[in-house]
Amino acid sequence: MNDKTRLAVLVSGSGSNLQAMIDAQIPNLEISLVISNNPKAYALERIEKYNIKSVVIDHKKYSNREDFEEEIIRTIEPYRINLIALAGFMRILSPYFVRPYKYRIMNIHPALLPSFPGINSVKQALEYGVKFTGCTVHFVDEGVDTGPIILQAVVPIYDKDTEETLLERVHNEEHKIYPEAIKLYSEGRLKISDRRVLISP
Ligand code: GAR
Repeated sequence: MNDKTRLAVLVSGSGSNLQAMIDAQIPNLEISLVISNNPKAYALERIEKYNIKSVVIDHKKYSNREDFEEEIIRTIEPYRINLIALAGFMRILSPYFVRPYKYRIMNIHPALLPSFPGINSVKQALEYGVKFTGCTVHFVDEGVDTGPIILQAVVPIYDKDTEETLLERVHNEEHKIYPEAIKLYSEGRLKISDRRVLISP
């Protein structure tokens, strides 16, 4: 019997990537839990109409990162989660959290890593003058946006682009590749060889 892949999604804001995961209706995947560090995240409103458990763990209520992360781990544990997806989760996770979940945490980043890691990546790409940017789904390691790359999509930058128009096209691609990466994971098709993530046919 194939058990379902149980997914926890960590959010901080709008949750459009979470929405894309829901809309993709990935067979054999259950979105078991959504955790937001921001009590006002629109992501929480989005999921009200679905039967998905959500929990707010407000980082401001913890005096240090380890206690905050400990609470996330404690919350996740009973759900027997196979995969954690960071979807606009704007807190950096320490090695304390990341190490036990090696190759079981994914993140989406709005640039073609290793270019423009960190924050404001779309603005950075526009200001730098690159002709192409895009988005990256990667496994999370102990660095910031440095983990093995699973999927990328390329977005051309046009002369008339503003941050808003470019961000919209980057988001459109994110909403395709993030569910696809999760689907590949749930199908057991991602194999890691050093830094490379190979996709089995
Ligand atoms: C996405 O564009 C994602 O790439 C970015 O936050 C946005 C969240 O949107 N993540 C990062 O910048 C992480 N460094 P969403 O809440 O609508 O999914």
